[in-house]
Amino acid sequence: MRTDGDSWDINTSVGSTALFVAAARTLGGRAPGAPAQDPFAEIFVRAAGPEWVDLLEGRAPEHPLATPEFGAQFQQHQIGRTRYFDDFMAAAAQAGIRQVVILAAGLDSRAYRLPWPDGTAVYELDRPQVLEFKRETLAAAGHKPVAERHEVAVDLREDWPKALRDSGFDADAPTAWLVEGLLIYLTPAAQEQLFDAIDTLSAPGSRVAIEQMDPLPAEAVAAMSQGDDSGSGWVRMIYNDPRTDATVWFGDRGWTGERVYLPDYLSELGQIPAEGVQQQSLINLVTVIRP
Ligand SMILES: C[S@@+](CC[C@H](N)C(=O)[O-])C[C@H]1O[C@@H](n2cnc3c(N)ncnc32)[C@H](O)[C@@H]1O
Repeated sequence: MRTDGDSWDINTSVGSTALFVAAARTLGGRAPGAPAQDPFAEIFVRAAGPEWVDLLEGRAPEHPLATPEFGAQFQQHQIGRTRYFDDFMAAAAQAGIRQVVILAAGLDSRAYRLPWPDGTAVYELDRPQVLEFKRETLAAAGHKPVAERHEVAVDLREDWPKALRDSGFDADAPTAWLVEGLLIYLTPAAQEQLFDAIDTLSAPGSRVAIEQMDPLPAEAVAAMSQGDDSGSGWVRMIYNDPRTDATVWFGDRGWTGERVYLPDYLSELGQIPAEGVQQQSLINLVTVIRP
């Protein structure tokens, strides 16, 4: 069960979800015709311990990411969203944006991986131990960021805008914001605060990319809560409450936007949405732009 001021590192609670999605990106990137690749994800997962190495090498068939019911669709979900947000960053760079903020960056490797124009600053916000694991793991493997990377070690339920500004963020410059794999770990009130802060800090021309999930049906939550597997652990970490749709929230404040459900997006990419637990149908990907 979550509490208001709870904390974690890369192996515990919400921190471990960053590792879980990095493993899913690695496995999802191996599928024939995968729409994206994140080679850095594998470096993190291998560094996390032998049980993760077993998963990557096919020696853990019982791991949830290896199962046909959950694993296949979750791998596809992760690699699909990677493509969506990679394309978002390319479009933002093309539009002249040189300031990027990745909220709950986790093991996002974009500051090391994408072809940023010279002078692009990437601010990564997450808990200190998560950012430290990322920095140390990639440095040990000999990798350097290819943008000006700024770590902002914060709790996103607290006054992160001050920490961001103190790190050099310029609220007068247009910004590309990324909110990937975060909102379900925040209460609706904390989401509201987060959106308020983005809105306040965004100069004209800014854009935001968001992954959001419609609430899970109550019976699915009840069924998942019964078990003692990773599904029940996950369901205890999330806030499954109804919340304002991001396109509506930003639309009410003058931003223009679009939203696509993940299965439709995968179809646009020529991918056949995987069978199994249909969490995919609740996921939607949003881009909003401030004129
Ligand atoms: C599922 S991971 C997603 C990471 C990354 N965005 C990605 O998609 O690979 C969730 C991340 O949210 C971070 N997170 C969740 N709540 C947070 C909070 N209140 N403050 C800082 N980070 C938070 C966790 O530490 C974790 O790295």
